[in-house]
Amino acid sequence: MNDPIKILVVEDNATMREGITEVLQKQQYQIVTASNGRDALSLFKKHRADLVITDYKMNPVDGLTVLKEIKTASPDTEVILITAFGTVDVAVEAMKLGAADFITKPFSPDELSVKIEKITRIFLERRQFIKTTEENLYLRGEIEGQYNFGEIIGSSPKMVEIFQLVQKSAVSDSSVVIYGESGTGKELVARAIHYNSHRKNKPFIKVNCAALSETLLESELFGHEKGSFTGAIKTKKGRFELADTGTLFLDEIGEISSNVQVKLLRVLQEQEFERVGGEETLSVDTRIIAATNKNLQEAVKKGLFREDLYYRLHIIPLHLPPLRERREDIPKLIDFFVQRLEKDMARRPIQINPDVYELLSNYRWPGNVRELENVIERAVVLSSNNRLTVDDFTSLGQSVSEFGVQLEDVEKMGLDSALEKIEKTMIEKALFKAQGVRSEAARILGVKTSAFYYKLEKYGLL
Ligand SMILES: Nc1ncnc2c1ncn2[C@@H]1O[C@H](COP(=O)(O)OP(=O)(O)OP(=O)(O)O)[C@@H](O)[C@H]1O
Ligand SMILES: [Mg+2]
Repeated sequence: MNDPIKILVVEDNATMREGITEVLQKQQYQIVTASNGRDALSLFKKHRADLVITDYKMNPVDGLTVLKEIKTASPDTEVILITAFGTVDVAVEAMKLGAADFITKPFSPDELSVKIEKITRIFLERRQFIKTTEENLYLRGEIEGQYNFGEIIGSSPKMVEIFQLVQKSAVSDSSVVIYGESGTGKELVARAIHYNSHRKNKPFIKVNCAALSETLLESELFGHEKGSFTGAIKTKKGRFELADTGTLFLDEIGEISSNVQVKLLRVLQEQEFERVGGEETLSVDTRIIAATNKNLQEAVKKGLFREDLYYRLHIIPLHLPPLRERREDIPKLIDFFVQRLEKDMARRPIQINPDVYELLSNYRWPGNVRELENVIERAVVLSSNNRLTVDDFTSLGQSVSEFGVQLEDVEKMGLDSALEKIEKTMIEKALFKAQGVRSEAARILGVKTSAFYYKLEKYGLL
């Protein structure tokens, strides 16, 4: 996939900023904007840009500082500095600091377009060059660090580790167990392993072990002979047979019954099984990838999961981190989902306000990447213009500030005041729910009425 070029426009004059944005929008660029150098730098940290167009005179933090910091953090990013007429020394300084070009005010839209086109062309050529080199490296199995497995986004250390494991497990036939909370990308990773393996042109077959009753799961996995149970009107091949020479993905493996566990163990050990109600022994060459949001080792300890089966499966364990433990990937995921929606819905490029990244990066994401994907989709579908702002995420905002404070506030205000604010908010909510009946509110919060009165007084709520 060829990503659109990402441009960060930094300009304190709103009219000027919109003018530049308008020129850029005629091309397939993805644009983000900031109205001063400080915002630009904090935005850039979370959300790299390929090209930065920055004004020189701004407060706080001027354009030269923006240039210097950005070139230090990301030497490949190109920067164009906008200077006022007659400030040659600034332009010279900018070039020394590594600016790709500068443009003097006042300038025409055409002048700007030409410069940007030139710079983006060079940028794209270089990106293509890097990509080819990376592909070559990958073919030799030497790539390290950031690697993008198809549509799996992530460059946090935890995800890089996952990519390396995916790569290693792809060249092997050993069983894999993928652990992770709901929505962390277990199925995506299972597919990546299959499609990077020598089995990639053979079937990838999925079975959701939690969705079927014991009998149905057994017949689903191993197939059945005609008449072997009520409803078995025809002989049916099982998923193991269908996945022969390919990969079988056993989702929610933690849910299978002890009876099915025994049968599964046998296939894993001997590559052999019989269809339900069948005599003939069938043999298959099927690679197993299992997934679960449970801790299988715990299940083994509790006697719910066979230890021998656990060891058969748990050859290559992969632990997918919850999204809140790799927040640095959130901006990239946002861009990825927005771009995909733009394409799917044939929408014009959508701009994303910096505070959207801020808001979404601080949320807890109990539903992980799936929840983020859904939240973005809802916002894009419901937004009437081509710009996402925090207002498009009000329902999320409620849960972020459910307790009256956001994570970043906690850091600013310190723990004690944050806790007080949370306490006050909870009391107000309880009072609202209890329709003002204080004893009822105390009961909702699980505190003694006397303690509750003390707190009401403390927060001036009496
Ligand atoms: N790293 C990622 N990059 C891009 N998309 C992702 C990533 N991780 C997950 N997704 C997307 O999030 C959604 C959920 O992923 P997936 O179905 O693989 O999760 P799961 O762990 O199997 O969840 P569950 O346990 O609920 O079945 C999918 O639409 C998937 O494409
Ligand atoms: Mg899943």
